[in-house]
Amino acid sequence: MFPRIQSIDALEILDSRGNPTVRVNLRLDDGTVATASVPSGASTGEHEAVELRDGDKKRYGGKGVLQAVANVNDLIAPALIGQDPRRQAQIDLLMIELDGTPNKAKLGANAILGVSQAVARAAAQASGLPLYAYLGGAGAVHIPVPMMNVLNGGKHADSGMDFQEFMIFPLGAPNFAEALRFGAETFHALKKILAERGYATSVGDEGGFAPQVKSNDEACELIVAAIEAAGFRPGKDIAIALDLAASSFYENGKYRLTRSGQGDKSASEMTALLRQWVEKYPIVSIEDGLAENDWEGFREHTAVLGGKIQIVGDDNLVTNTKFIARAIEEKSCNAALIKLNQIGTVTETVAAIHLCRKAGWGYVISHRSGETEDSFMADFAVAMGGGQIKTGSACRSERIAKYNRLLEIERELGKAAVFGR
Ligand code: PGA
Ligand code: ZN
Repeated sequence: MFPRIQSIDALEILDSRGNPTVRVNLRLDDGTVATASVPSGASTGEHEAVELRDGDKKRYGGKGVLQAVANVNDLIAPALIGQDPRRQAQIDLLMIELDGTPNKAKLGANAILGVSQAVARAAAQASGLPLYAYLGGAGAVHIPVPMMNVLNGGKHADSGMDFQEFMIFPLGAPNFAEALRFGAETFHALKKILAERGYATSVGDEGGFAPQVKSNDEACELIVAAIEAAGFRPGKDIAIALDLAASSFYENGKYRLTRSGQGDKSASEMTALLRQWVEKYPIVSIEDGLAENDWEGFREHTAVLGGKIQIVGDDNLVTNTKFIARAIEEKSCNAALIKLNQIGTVTETVAAIHLCRKAGWGYVISHRSGETEDSFMADFAVAMGGGQIKTGSACRSERIAKYNRLLEIERELGKAAVFGR
């Protein structure tokens, strides 16, 4: 008989920003032990599943997760003991029902997701399969192209950029190991250029540099210069991807580009600005170019830009089939960012991806700005076969852990591995 869940216990650990998060340890009755840790965002979407925080100001400024930990230990564990860990969908549904709210507000998406991921990992281990093969089956051979966030702005760094993420996207690399090398070499070239121009080379939450550049344009120019200095061809070997996280500078119906001094813009003006950028720089993907509730703006945005580049929805879609279905219907994006903790279970995340696939949309498996050393999402990206992952720059171990895991998977797959978007 396949082993059953024997015990589940959680503990409070710290994420890469030094804030508490949940780790779950799950044991099967054959001695298999699996662990999973949950990440945490800063520029979160309004409709994300609830990340349960204690609110006790005496501990971690209210950010403790002892209640979420207790929910795993006292409420979820007793309900799951004796279950077959391969029954992921039933187990996830059981937790959703136990929670009973539409957004996991009672137990916490951080509690539920930790268990959901630990269940998948335990089932994989007990099946004698690597996680990507267990979750993705025989077709899990597709290694994603990394979007590497080399300049951090917005809520992720106190830098000169209004826009949150300027990413290099090594689409022209022949395999993942080379893509990572392209990215890392460009990252180092960028560091040198920044130092030469008198800018700071300290890094933000996702490992990208956070200089006090004078404009958002300058950030793109610096990246193009770094790609060339590293010996690569902009647009051919390495393209640019952006995440504006525009909700973070949207106020009273205006997009306020205050850090860069570019003034206030309407949705149409933002789209026009990005259209110019797409002509000027080798940009192939733009995420959250507008604010999360600007559905009307997004329709125009996608009509204008969507024929040329990938328009990724993050804060507006929150890995939720309800919002993705609306965006497919309204043609408000043509791709989705996928974050397991936005929705809170493995099963619901897979459903979001299936919906994207059915619509012919792209999808990008993503980390959060607050991460841990857990590399679950690297295996998950290969299992889901979408060909794109974003998990930070070429430094900070919580980012590198995912890249290193992809290197391992690529080597393990050998000639069977397929790389590319
Ligand atoms: P977050 O940032 O984890 O702070 O939400 C990542 C993103 O916006 O894509
Ligand atoms: Zn985003």
